[in-house]
Amino acid sequence: MQPSAETNGKPNTLTITDNRTGKQYEIPIENDTIRATDLRKIRMHPEDFGMMTYDPAFMNTAACRSTITFIDGDRGILQYRGYPIEQLAERCSYLEVAYLLIHGELPNEAQFEEWTQNITQHTFVHENIKKFMDGFHYDAHPMGMFVSTVAALSTFYPTAKRIDDPVERLLTIYRLIGKAPTLAAFAYRHSIGMPYVYPDDDLSYAGNLLSMMFKVGEPMLQPHPVLTHALDTLFILHADHEQNCSANAMRAVGSSRADPYSSAAAAAAALYGPLHGGANAEVLYMLDEIGNKEKIPAFINAVKGGERKLMGFGHRIYKNFDPRASIIKKLADQVFSVTGRNPKLDIAMELERIALQDDYFIKRKLYPNVDFYSGLIYQALKFPVDMFPVLFAIGRMSGWLAQWQEMLLDPEQKISRPRQVYLGRAKRDVPMLSQRGFAAG
Ligand code: ACO
Repeated sequence: MQPSAETNGKPNTLTITDNRTGKQYEIPIENDTIRATDLRKIRMHPEDFGMMTYDPAFMNTAACRSTITFIDGDRGILQYRGYPIEQLAERCSYLEVAYLLIHGELPNEAQFEEWTQNITQHTFVHENIKKFMDGFHYDAHPMGMFVSTVAALSTFYPTAKRIDDPVERLLTIYRLIGKAPTLAAFAYRHSIGMPYVYPDDDLSYAGNLLSMMFKVGEPMLQPHPVLTHALDTLFILHADHEQNCSANAMRAVGSSRADPYSSAAAAAAALYGPLHGGANAEVLYMLDEIGNKEKIPAFINAVKGGERKLMGFGHRIYKNFDPRASIIKKLADQVFSVTGRNPKLDIAMELERIALQDDYFIKRKLYPNVDFYSGLIYQALKFPVDMFPVLFAIGRMSGWLAQWQEMLLDPEQKISRPRQVYLGRAKRDVPMLSQRGFAAG
């Protein structure tokens, strides 16, 4: 949220009365927030620890100050570094947006050339990574392979541990953005028993991924420009989303000063979950299960009865609409004009239509999120469902790295370590074995 600056001449403080003691406390307000540690002075007895806030799942806790991504969930606004997502999706390529997230400004031509060249130079992986991937079982999930190989990169680049060195940090940024599509494609090729395809420097970022995924015997795979553009746009839409579960994992692990590959692997692991980056695959499974429009009302009833979840609906932040979902819907039309219509689109649209008129969803402010339609496009591009979270991770890599770097450069940040409210047993003595029913001796 963006803080309001107006105080109308009134003090920018919060006065709290502790009714247990009758004492009053004045707490400064800054950027519409109070510092949780200021509450510690509220205590009954001098030896008390002091007041804390209890906020499971961080529903109302800002853990950092950030200048990367702005979201207004009620108004459906998403901006990277101040630029609306709609304009970025229309006017920029993914690599320009990645530059914007990392450096704070869009690149000029020379900066962009250098940036692209550096990333392209780092798309290859060490040959031992291939051997490492060969060790996975034939049906290993590509996201499990991706998470593990991102972590394994830390053993290939030990100097990345020098996280205070801006040159090392930038090198890691090039490497992780450059290698993410290579690792993703290799994971897929392994799962279908096909030889790995090396990166092709003459292709765009998204085009290169399509080539590494799908090239068979042809000397060069030139993907359809509409499909390349769609994939590139999907990367832009997924590039960052402020303090989401995986960005929070990246920051939390990075705050222990772990190397960036290990931190990025932790972020990717967080993304793997069905409530986060795994949701786009779940949407497809759900549409498959519903099978035809006639079965939608029964499915909706199961959702309302609490037996099922309508995957691809609802969001912690967006309570009106997800601006990414509107862009994706338009993108789907462009893709289907080339690939032919995905028959599941009709089920998805009918599901959306019925849900948006239903009181259950209206009351809870549940709208389609970015994942409701993205899977249908990925499927039209011939990506298997298991690859969906991996595709999400490729786009999100630049956001994770921007969040990680911001955390490292923020003098207020320390090792991330939440408090707890302990409700367990009070101190007690360990009983002797005989008192716990053990036979003597
Ligand atoms: N289907 C049915 N009911 C839902 C759904 C859904 N998809 N999402 C939320 N609700 C209901 C909850 O049961 C709850 O109802 P209640 O008040 O009667 O208990 C109410 O709406 C509020 O939901 P919460 O779970 O409290 O919302 P929260 O902010 O914790 O969860 C989340 C957000 C995880 C995204 C949730 O909406 C969900 O599980 N959606 C489906 C998974 C999904 O699409 N995830 C992708 C998110 S986008 C992304 O990560 C890129």
